[in-house]
Amino acid sequence: MIPAEVQQTKQRFGIIGNAPGLIRAITRALQIAPIDLAVLITGESGAGKEFFPQIIHANSSRKHGKYIAVNCGAIPEGTIDSELFGHEKGAFTGALSARKGYFEEADGGTIFLDEVGELPLTTQARLLRVLESGEFLKVGSSTVLKTNVRIVAATNLDMVKAVSEGKFREDLYYRLSTIHIEIPPLRERAEDILLLFRKFSTDFAERYRMPVIQLTDDARNVLLNYRWPGNVRQLKNITEQISIFETNREVDGATLQAYLPQYNIEKLPTRSAPSEQDRTFFEKERKMLYKTLFEMQKELADLHAKVEELTKGAQTASFAPQPQPIAVPHSMALTTIPTAVPVHVPTSKGKTIAETEGEVIPNEAVELQPTTLEDTEKETIRKALIRNHGKRKKTAEELKISERTLYRKIKEYNLE
Ligand SMILES: Nc1ncnc2c1ncn2[C@@H]1O[C@H](COP(=O)(O)OP(=O)(O)OP(=O)(O)O)[C@@H](O)[C@H]1O
Ligand SMILES: [Mg+2]
Repeated sequence: MIPAEVQQTKQRFGIIGNAPGLIRAITRALQIAPIDLAVLITGESGAGKEFFPQIIHANSSRKHGKYIAVNCGAIPEGTIDSELFGHEKGAFTGALSARKGYFEEADGGTIFLDEVGELPLTTQARLLRVLESGEFLKVGSSTVLKTNVRIVAATNLDMVKAVSEGKFREDLYYRLSTIHIEIPPLRERAEDILLLFRKFSTDFAERYRMPVIQLTDDARNVLLNYRWPGNVRQLKNITEQISIFETNREVDGATLQAYLPQYNIEKLPTRSAPSEQDRTFFEKERKMLYKTLFEMQKELADLHAKVEELTKGAQTASFAPQPQPIAVPHSMALTTIPTAVPVHVPTSKGKTIAETEGEVIPNEAVELQPTTLEDTEKETIRKALIRNHGKRKKTAEELKISERTLYRKIKEYNLE
């Protein structure tokens, strides 16, 4: 039986799911909300951490104060101190006037420090001081200011590892994690997967004015057996993709699988996680594939050059047509992306303070490195130099480039 206050909280924040792990996390957030201590929320990317600082703030005595969410991972290292703690006029180039930082703004309220594990060590020192005494200095100032802010931090990093690697201060970690709430990954909340899918597909159907996607039994099994490395965010993203792209509104297992990267690897229960060995294997396979493509591209360029040489004759030979970068076809899939639509990949990088949804990383159709172009160019110059007995002026004329460019290229490619 789910307690009434947990139900109300779920409704208020639009949280879907009844899995014991999720209910436990919400219950704990409600319990600790009135206790005015720092809280650390941990959990994998996309698991739903962002609801929790809001639940805590809304159920604390600070609820009428400000709530400021800061994505520490999205602020450049050079400006983060000033963003958080403010600066004095003239503190650095471009500081035309004094500015309040978030800690001053949020006085009496709550600050949510998202991706706290990304904070630079210098900022960590400042943060520790605020946590311990409420004191801070603006950048460029020596006047100690005071603030009364509750800090709720979140991270998807392994903080113990970050501490052992010296990337995160141990004292700060203990301070922040006085109260710790762990959000379980979606694969440990299997009973919620179909509920979430239904909610998201109904929302997207409404948004895009299309009939709601229905799943066959087979498709339901695919959803339930997948490992969901990107958690709820990934489920939401693929539901959106399916809602947009599938004209047949009843989706079967095979169709669904095409939207799930590494379905066969990320499957449960045969394996709980792709092993290091698997990753190394796929990495090697990917590199081999790239290498083959590079070589094919080079051979093609050489062939072009030869045909050109033969047709135009040695005197009029010019640069070989530059081979176009190859976009790796989806059908080759690089074993990771078996889908013909852009794949939303969960990432902890480059997110903004406001919202992280809808990030599309263009899939692995990679712009290949221009090494083969360089090879082709180098080879063309080398051959032209031989044909012109090393005479740079004639070679440059033949190649229709300036002598200076030729000179630079000879140096660059070590063709002396
Ligand atoms: N139980 C849930 N019910 C409804 N929507 C959810 C649930 N959990 C997560 N979501 C949605 O999934 C998306 C990702 O969640 P959220 O942004 O909270 O992830 P996160 O844990 O903060 O991930 P990251 O570590 O990458 O920042 C959001 O759009 C959020 O609204
Ligand atoms: Mg987040």
